Amino acid sequence: MAFNITVNSKAHSVDVDGDTPLLWVLRDVLGMTGTKFGCGMALCGACTVHIDGAATRSCITPIASIGNSSITTIEAIGATRTGAKVQKAWLDREVVQCGYCQSGQIMSASALLASKPQPTDADIDAAMSGNICRCGTYVRIREAIKHAAQSDE
Ligand code: FES
Ligand code: FES
Repeated sequence: MAFNITVNSKAHSVDVDGDTPLLWVLRDVLGMTGTKFGCGMALCGACTVHIDGAATRSCITPIASIGNSSITTIEAIGATRTGAKVQKAWLDREVVQCGYCQSGQIMSASALLASKPQPTDADIDAAMSGNICRCGTYVRIREAIKHAAQSDE
């Protein structure tokens, strides 16, 4: 069945079963491999994208549930004001180690700062607790979120 979806402000028509997870559509149908597969069970956050601005686990989001919502992925988050601030802060604070989890981390952090420009530690914990990093970059992620919140760019 064909589904019409909007990803990074571009319209796509994809012919897949309705229960196909958005992550599969992004990676295997549209060739957008910046969004990562980790667990496939909403436990790690590697697959996080924005749906209408909300951080969402694309591995458990059926394509049929998306409707007219707007999807943003790591490939385009830098075009948003908040996403650009977050990406710069990630570089400034040298957050990344292996990098596998980081697109998901950046998407969760960007959604947080878009809704709460000055998050408290508790806000950061609540927003980021579902994003696992096996390299243990958590301290630098927290610093980078605070750095982005203080920046003007
Ligand atoms: S791959 Fe989606 S949360 Fe782990
Ligand atoms: S940077 Fe390696 S898993 Fe997070």
